[in-house]
Amino acid sequence: MNRLTTRFARIAVLLTGALLAQGAQANAGVQLLSFTPDTGNLASAQRGARNYMAYCSGCHSMKYLRYNRLAEDLKIPEDVLKKNLMFTSDKVGDPIKVAMPAASEQWFGRVPPDLSLESRARGPSWIYTYLKSFYIDESRPLGVNNTVLVGASMPHVLWELQGWQKKAEHKAEGEHAEAAGGHHEGSPFELVTKGSLTPKEYDEFVADTVNFMDYAAEPGKAGRISLGFKVLMYLFGLLVLTYFLKKEFWRDVH
Ligand code: HEC
Repeated sequence: MNRLTTRFARIAVLLTGALLAQGAQANAGVQLLSFTPDTGNLASAQRGARNYMAYCSGCHSMKYLRYNRLAEDLKIPEDVLKKNLMFTSDKVGDPIKVAMPAASEQWFGRVPPDLSLESRARGPSWIYTYLKSFYIDESRPLGVNNTVLVGASMPHVLWELQGWQKKAEHKAEGEHAEAAGGHHEGSPFELVTKGSLTPKEYDEFVADTVNFMDYAAEPGKAGRISLGFKVLMYLFGLLVLTYFLKKEFWRDVH
């Protein structure tokens, strides 16, 4: 290896290290559950929109998404939109604002961030894991902490649905964990108080919500994917035509 390649390799190693370190910080070293959004699953995104409006829009705005765009994309009739999804006196052409502004800032010490682009900023797996990682922690002002966003000032707003979980103690073998009841194999938590949903229903609730947030971060995505497919089909058709045209041209030459 000459000197230049050595230096290049050294820089590459440093850069990789820096990137890895950054990633670890954002996730506080926690293994994220992997979640791939179901783009184009309209029913799920509709349920997610309902979940979001009921449980999140009180504190979080989505300033890049307008109610009427949402209704059009997710095929929600205007009367249903107005009755079930709009809690403020907004007009259908307005962006999604916070239902209880200012108050939340004083209560939680931090302004709840706008979530329009959250799915692109943090990624769907991060949000999915975040909503499943609130746990009881008496040392925190709200009595709750989150393994993905350590020291989060957001309360566990979905506790009625999920129930309360605490960090699982490290058990030697899986069999002891089983006896504790609510503890899943491989989960870092155990459920100590049941919620109104079963763990499976809660996972679906969170999945729907993240599907909606993923739609919100890129409202044109489903349309773009289907357009991309059409373009590819068109190009393929063109290829076939060109092939026959070429044969036609060269027929007399051979
Ligand atoms: C009572 C107010 C409140 C409600 C309701 C609420 N949040 Fe939050 N949320 C916050 C606050 C405050 C923060 C900032 C936490 C911090 O950085 O310490 C936050 C942070 C977040 C973050 C992390 C932002 C980031 O990238 O750092 C996500 C994701 C999030 N909330 C999603 C949701 C979802 C989804 C719902 C509905 C199920 C919801 N929140 C309901 C107050 C709220």
